[in-house]
Amino acid sequence: TRFFASSNLLCGKKALVTAGGTQEPLDPVRYLGNRSSGRMGYAVAQALQEAGADTILVSAPSELPVPSGVQRISVMTAEEMRRAVLEYFPDVDIVVKSAAVADYRPKEMAAQKIKKKGTSLFVELVPNPDILAELGKMKTKQVLIGFAAETENLLANAQEKMLRKNVDMLVANDVTQAGSGFGSLTNCVSFLFPDGRRIDLPQMNKLEVARHLRDEIVELLGGTKE
Ligand code: CTP
Ligand code: CA
Repeated sequence: TRFFASSNLLCGKKALVTAGGTQEPLDPVRYLGNRSSGRMGYAVAQALQEAGADTILVSAPSELPVPSGVQRISVMTAEEMRRAVLEYFPDVDIVVKSAAVADYRPKEMAAQKIKKKGTSLFVELVPNPDILAELGKMKTKQVLIGFAAETENLLANAQEKMLRKNVDMLVANDVTQAGSGFGSLTNCVSFLFPDGRRIDLPQMNKLEVARHLRDEIVELLGGTKE
């Protein structure tokens, strides 16, 4: 793969990117979260913006600076992310769902800080909505890209997710590998397509991964052919 030299291939296009790990409150001072830094999603937003797309970044809490020209919408929970995404979805051409969305949330948030007792604490978790699957059912003109973070059976699990969620491309990420996934500056991914094509990228920094992903989006939109 190659980076397109021109920086206006996505001019006039609107993009929606999600990033970071959602935080699901347990009480006023605690949450259920994950190790996502948001770095991959922020890099995707930057790469799309660089190519001229009007880019909205719906972000769970992250320390990272907002890429220049990108509009960030800050959210905390999966439910807040879902609401923000559904609001912008009808209007956009490109959706990249790099966020690590919590699959479960505490059924209730305690009104006060939970006090420790000498006994085990049981917390009931209930499933969060699957935002990407919902978008897969709703999509019309949008190019929809999902991620799959896996610790085993990478390609088989990713393939199954791609079909189940009806995405146009899936980024499969082996998060057990050194230099890939949560908290890492680099990533080692494969792109999977519903037509059976697969592109294995070598390990590279997340902005480079994002630029390759952006170039595939340009092709999916029919902007260029090789
Ligand atoms: N995703 C989402 N909403 C959720 C869970 C996941 O939109 N509630 C999206 C992620 O943003 C990602 C893709 O679905 O683009 C795959 O996420 P992943 O956690 O790998 O897959 P799950 O479907 O949650 O399956 P599991 O965690 O059991 O492997
Ligand atoms: Ca999950």
